[in-house]
Amino acid sequence: MDRSRISRRALLLSAGALAAWQASPVRALMQSAEREGALPPRVDALLGRMTPEEKAGQLTLMPAAWDANAATFNPSQPPTSFRAQLAQIRAGQLTGVFNGSGSTWVREAQIAAVKESRLGIPLIFAADVIHGFRTVFPVPLAEAASFDPLLAERTARVAAIEAAAAGIDWTFAPMVDIARDARWGRAVEGAGEDVLLGIHMAAARVKGFQGTSLSNDDAVLACAKHFAAYGAAEAGLDYNTVDVSEHTLREIYFPPFEAAFAAGALSTMAAFNELSGIPATANPWLLDQVLRREWRFGGLVVTDYTGDEELIAHGFAADERDAARLAILAGVDMSMTSGLFLKHLPDLVTKGEVPMARLDEAVRRVLAIKVKLGLFDDPFRRIDARREKARTRTQTHLALAREAARRSIVMLKNEGNLLPLPRSGKRIALIGPFAEGKLDLLGPWSIFGRAVDAVDLATGMRAAVEEASQVTVKQGCLIEKPLAGGIEEAVAAARAADIVVLAVGEGQKMSGEAESRTEITLPDAQRALAEAVAEVGKPMVVLLKNGRALSLDGAVLAAPAILVTWFLGSEGGPAIADVLFGVEGPSGRLPVSFPHASGQTPYYYSHKPTGRPNRSAEIEAYKTRYRDMLHTAQFAFGHGLTYGEIEYSNLELNSTAMDWNGALTVRATVSNRGSLAAVEVAQLYIRDVTASITRPVRELKAYQRVSVAPGESKQVTFTLTRRDLMFIGRNLRPTVEAGEFYVWVAPSAEADGVSGRFVLSADRT
Ligand code: BGC
Repeated sequence: MDRSRISRRALLLSAGALAAWQASPVRALMQSAEREGALPPRVDALLGRMTPEEKAGQLTLMPAAWDANAATFNPSQPPTSFRAQLAQIRAGQLTGVFNGSGSTWVREAQIAAVKESRLGIPLIFAADVIHGFRTVFPVPLAEAASFDPLLAERTARVAAIEAAAAGIDWTFAPMVDIARDARWGRAVEGAGEDVLLGIHMAAARVKGFQGTSLSNDDAVLACAKHFAAYGAAEAGLDYNTVDVSEHTLREIYFPPFEAAFAAGALSTMAAFNELSGIPATANPWLLDQVLRREWRFGGLVVTDYTGDEELIAHGFAADERDAARLAILAGVDMSMTSGLFLKHLPDLVTKGEVPMARLDEAVRRVLAIKVKLGLFDDPFRRIDARREKARTRTQTHLALAREAARRSIVMLKNEGNLLPLPRSGKRIALIGPFAEGKLDLLGPWSIFGRAVDAVDLATGMRAAVEEASQVTVKQGCLIEKPLAGGIEEAVAAARAADIVVLAVGEGQKMSGEAESRTEITLPDAQRALAEAVAEVGKPMVVLLKNGRALSLDGAVLAAPAILVTWFLGSEGGPAIADVLFGVEGPSGRLPVSFPHASGQTPYYYSHKPTGRPNRSAEIEAYKTRYRDMLHTAQFAFGHGLTYGEIEYSNLELNSTAMDWNGALTVRATVSNRGSLAAVEVAQLYIRDVTASITRPVRELKAYQRVSVAPGESKQVTFTLTRRDLMFIGRNLRPTVEAGEFYVWVAPSAEADGVSGRFVLSADRT
């Protein structure tokens, strides 16, 4: 990487660059077209002046040459120097770069584009801003546990403010892939297994990133990824084959994309995987038929990192040239990293193998996005060193990081009300590889956050108790290996303490891209530590760090209290302490089911019934279950306890029949019989009892966060209409069928809660 300093000439130029740009003929041309209110002529005018090479350049995105850290998040490429990249920019060979930020570098690159290239087309700066920028928020899976889309919108807004202040125009987020196989490492980047929650989180994040107008200096373009069904990889193995029915695509995997586009996302990323034999990157049915013709998507499609080149390894393209041809003809507009569009499109067009009109269409889309981002009005709109400083890691941003982290925590168990812990009078042994230290705090895909800025658990806990000396810290073991003498030290610390807090789980590198696991358990070294420490017999709270659903066993599962704390970002330590000591009660809910064993994967609550359901809690002969366990979750989707004692009662339906064009009101009472306040997430599930296509055993249709004071009862009210009962029918279109439905208002997908039934009337009058 060339980290050479920005030249004096460039800095001088930067001052004059905006003025020069403002006077440039290209801008005048575009502005006059804009005044006329029509975007295409403005874009077309510029198009007419471009050579095929320059057009191919507008469709070529490359990793930024100046950020060495960012480069570690992807397979390495032949190194490019910053100077060489500037030369490419001046030659009109790049539409933009990604994963390089910082106003100084970005400014110099933008100057090369607008001042020193023939047409002066501004660059677009992209980045993986997945869960925060310098202020790091909980990983998206954790945040989904809040069941609070508004929270996700607020954190995405702040991520956009910080990223845009550092020169970023476009984020490769949100990831909206439904993930039902806990082995798949990338579940950590999305909203989990449920379609409704996925839809809500996708829309919220898009709104947050894009703000009120894409042209604002604090807005970034959202990119819904990975289109499509990347999460359905066979065996949970990253990049692996996907073969799902069109019905499943339309019912499970597509809806969060549709929601992201409806919320305004103007870009999407083609997935790495094949889809029933045709890689997504070269799949005309997906990228043209569904996306453009059916959904009328007007934004741009970018490949994933070298996705076009990978068509060769898929056994779908003969060579690089063929790969470029197949991708652009299928509907890809921009190539990321491989450089194949730049290398081959001009010749493919000259030889008539790709119509110029297709190239123009793609270029038009890219330019239209740049117009929308305000880059043609002011290419330096998001490049301002002072703003970068002022808008980064502010107190408000950090406070939001702590709030989001607290609300992402899920309490799985709390026997004997062990939690919350007292702040004084007790000696606490904080044990485990995640007790202390700056590693593994931020979580996967945090390119711009700095580990040193994050606050760890030990610091958070010491600040929360009356005397910092109450907390003794022992590592016990490494993440995946024993530590010489570690267990002995940990056991001694446990003996000397009143309470043990055991911080175990997955390291940051155990989930994320290309980090699929065959076993979704805790590493052996940590299980051995847990057994030894539990043996001491002190009350033990387990804090799990994880980027996926886990299957728990032994001493960890048997511990009286378990909190799922994921990767919570910059303020994780203080946020966990807030919940441990009861400053705020836990209110998160599992966005993914935790199965009993790895062998159950993919396990998700919304599975179909079979012809031989095992209905009782015992294993029955010749029923759908394993030899050794039931086909149920250990901790179901939606599960999460509070410091209150919550009871559900009095399900009331305003009628046992829903008119075809009417609505049904569902009410239930949520009571807190405990002595501490609670925020309960009441969940409404339905089951369509009989249909022309089999329906899942339960489907989430609505949820509500409700605060219930000790001794208080509150009524929650949901309204269902025919729309909520819709499914994808045999004709592959949304369908509703009259008939009987079960309804539950419950604290999780596998809890009884309160239930009833109603009929959707067939009378359409
Ligand atoms: C990932 C994308 C990411 C891209 C750029 C790829 O490996 O699949 O999600 O946006 O790299 O960093």
